[in-house]
Amino acid sequence: MNILILGSGGRESAFAWKIAQSPKCEKLFIAPGNAGTHQYGTNVNLKVTDFEGIKQLVISEKIDLVLVGPEEPLVKGIHDFFLADEQLKGVPVVGPQQHAAQLEGSKDFSKQFMEKHNIPTAAYKTFTKDTLQEGLTYLATAGLPVVLKADGLAAGKGVLICLTLEEAQLELTQMLAEAKFGEASSRVVVEQFLQGIELSVFVMTDGTNYKILPEAKDYKRIGEGDTGLNTGGMGSVSPVPFADAGYMKKVEEKVIIPTVEGLKKDNIPYKGFIFIGLMNSEGEPWVIEYNCRMGDPETESVMRRIDSDFVDLLQGVAEGNLNEKELIISPKTAATVVMVAGGYPGEYLKNKVITGTENVRDSIVFHAGTSTQEDGVISTGGRVLAITTLQNDMFTALQQATADASRIYYDGMYFRKDIGFDLL
Ligand code: AMP
Ligand code: GLY
Repeated sequence: MNILILGSGGRESAFAWKIAQSPKCEKLFIAPGNAGTHQYGTNVNLKVTDFEGIKQLVISEKIDLVLVGPEEPLVKGIHDFFLADEQLKGVPVVGPQQHAAQLEGSKDFSKQFMEKHNIPTAAYKTFTKDTLQEGLTYLATAGLPVVLKADGLAAGKGVLICLTLEEAQLELTQMLAEAKFGEASSRVVVEQFLQGIELSVFVMTDGTNYKILPEAKDYKRIGEGDTGLNTGGMGSVSPVPFADAGYMKKVEEKVIIPTVEGLKKDNIPYKGFIFIGLMNSEGEPWVIEYNCRMGDPETESVMRRIDSDFVDLLQGVAEGNLNEKELIISPKTAATVVMVAGGYPGEYLKNKVITGTENVRDSIVFHAGTSTQEDGVISTGGRVLAITTLQNDMFTALQQATADASRIYYDGMYFRKDIGFDLL
């Protein structure tokens, strides 16, 4: 098969690494890819939202399957675009259609879905500009802290955890009346704050059958000890000790089955990944959010723990026979340390030459924000590289990923040295 992966981050690098190993994969293309993905296939310089350009590529390269990495093309309807096109409708897209992608693209849609299907989630109410006054009154009765969420995609910045009523009322006003996050905050979900430890759970589904991929823990804050600003993700670990068989059974029964069944009941076709962001609160799973794609940097750790043929699983999603496919998960521990640019997640340094990747001993260097120039590989994004290792025990994995990250250098480079150590 010829396969096209859309995206350019560490997640897509990990997909490309895994897919390139499949005997079923003939030619692999990554659009746009990065300085690392060309080790696994051919990079094509196309934006993930350039649907016409993607169409031409799919036709000229006889692509048999498209795997969509990020949410943006899904929320913008790439799957629907394929289904509506005579020349593309026979080419399966792994990633949901626009309506289902609202599970990520609209917080209000996902909360309504959870409420309707009795999926455990924080109590909430949704407000618009017209109901701002009601919202301000509601805040006065809601406990603190309180969580404000812009309904639409806001580049990961649309969630605010407010500690005081004054702050919450000011933020709600700015979001609704002053369009703080543009159109994305024309609706705001106000929800109860959940205390606990977060867990990322990944489900692959063909709309009827599902497989639960390895779970992972993601480290979102820039600073060690989970301090400082939120980032796209500074590292990940899989498996997660508290997510043992008993806990995962609860997650399956209370969250995964009702989610897949709920989509079916609502006549919402879904072929792709469901990323369930959970809060583990005193042993009970609560859904914080759905994403319509895999997580980054979780995918880097997750792919390393999948021992079966990933292309076979993707085919199962495409063909609707995922139940006949085999998912073999390694019992080993995968750890990922993300190396970021100086200044990130604020304004950050770019175009810094990266050296030392050849010194890495027992990890895979997945590229994220990188590109190839005359003077070598340079950094172009905030998250530059993801260093992923797979070891027999968690301690060795955490140590190895951290040690390997320290063998790489670029001006201003930074990574957290404490990824996963809280789990030991
Ligand atoms: P989201 O974009 O919904 O994933 O929210 C971003 C982050 O905000 C989550 O990963 C959590 O760390 C935090 N968060 C969101 N909702 C809640 C909540 N109800 N209680 C506590 N923390 C939350
Ligand atoms: N690691 C969190 C995300 O991909 O959204």
